[in-house]
Amino acid sequence: MTAAPVSPSIGVFDSGVGGLTVLRELHRQLPDVPLHYIADAAYAPYGERSPAFLAERSTRLTQRLLDQGARLIVIACNTATAHAIQALRERWPGLPIVGTEPGIKPAVAASSNGRVGVLATPATIASQRYRTLVHRHAGSAEVFSQPCPGLADLIERGNLQSPELAELIEQQCAPLREAGVDTVLMGCTHYPFVQTELQQALGPQVRLLNIETAVAQQARRLWEALSIAPAQGGLQLATTGDAATLTRFANQMLGWQVQAEAVVI
Ligand code: DGL
Repeated sequence: MTAAPVSPSIGVFDSGVGGLTVLRELHRQLPDVPLHYIADAAYAPYGERSPAFLAERSTRLTQRLLDQGARLIVIACNTATAHAIQALRERWPGLPIVGTEPGIKPAVAASSNGRVGVLATPATIASQRYRTLVHRHAGSAEVFSQPCPGLADLIERGNLQSPELAELIEQQCAPLREAGVDTVLMGCTHYPFVQTELQQALGPQVRLLNIETAVAQQARRLWEALSIAPAQGGLQLATTGDAATLTRFANQMLGWQVQAEAVVI
């Protein structure tokens, strides 16, 4: 018996719901491309995990997405990009892989006073890749890196109105407010889900930037270079955690009527 042919797709993964912000943008820019998403919720949050753990999970998730027909991978996670993109590129040298990284360069360009803040997970900020990014693009600007332990985890739990979340946001934004930054980067794909709350805590004068549009543009360029025949687009959601939770989140936050599937990876 021969296996049914799989249609070429873009494989996308994150530790949980955060990467849906990237997926939304990919779907907007590439409506005719099948998009397969895996939320690694059984192992979330990634932000306090070791580099070796992140590389191992990212390799497994990528393998799974390739088995399902992925021809391009989008790491919709700053933390996994920081610690695993290099290992994935070494393992699959011909495979186009798009990472998600804090856009230091555009943030510095957007800043008027040369004071830029970055909100990201502790693992992203601790990574060599992040340090290199800042070193390469900060120029004369001062970059204030704010690790946000617990923030992605609370967003992942889905209660975006909880007092606990509001308190954590206030606590983590206060140092950036005090530093007088005029531009702040959301360096974790979970954070756009609390963009309004972050903006409130940082103050109306601060410009808050995200990276999803740029990531999707890069994925689109690489996908088009593959010259794959147009197919039936669509979203497929899977999670190593609870399928009902991901289904509910995608429905409530993004208005998607997609049933997530539970997988063991
Ligand atoms: N959404 C991820 C990121 O962009 C990971 C958050 C987490 O699981 O800690 O870094």
